[in-house]
Amino acid sequence: MNVISENKISQAALDKLFAAALTARENAYAPYSHFAVGAAVATPDGQIFAGGNVENAAYPAGCCAETGAITAMVAAGGRQISDVLVVADCDRGILPCGSCRQRIAEFATEDAVVHSAGPDGVHKSVRFAALLPEAFDRQTLESEPARAV
Ligand code: THU
Repeated sequence: MNVISENKISQAALDKLFAAALTARENAYAPYSHFAVGAAVATPDGQIFAGGNVENAAYPAGCCAETGAITAMVAAGGRQISDVLVVADCDRGILPCGSCRQRIAEFATEDAVVHSAGPDGVHKSVRFAALLPEAFDRQTLESEPARAV
C-alpha cells in the first residue's frame, strides 16, 4: 500500500509543517472558489516553506497553494523536498492536483511523502512516487535524441 503507517519525519517536524500550512490556508485568497488551501514543504535539512492558493478574477491566472510553497522554497535556495503537507476542509481529504504533482516531482527526494490534512490535523500520509508514477522529468529530457532545430 502507498499509505505510510510510520513517518520518517518526526512528529514535532510534522506538527510544524501542519502549523505552517494551516496559517497559509488562513491567509489564502480564494474569493471565487471559496476553497481555501494551505501547503507547506519541508527540505531534508528541516526548513519549511508555506503557501496558500491565490485566485484571480481571470481564473486561469490563479495559483495553487503548493506552487506558492515551492516558489518560496526556491527563492530561499532550497532544491529538495522531503515532505509536503496540504490542508483543506473537505470530506474526501486533499492531495495535490496534477499540475502541482509535476511541480513537486521536480524537487522531490526519492522517498518524499505527501501528508493530507484537514483543519483538525493530518489524515493520511502517502508516498509521492505513488502519486505521479513514470513522471516526465529531467532524465526524460536528457535521454532525448538530438533533434535538428
Ligand atoms: N487548489 C490548490 O491550491 N491546490 C490543489 O492541489 C488543488 C486546488 C486550489 C486552486 C483553486 O484556488 C482552488 O483550490 C479550487 O480549485
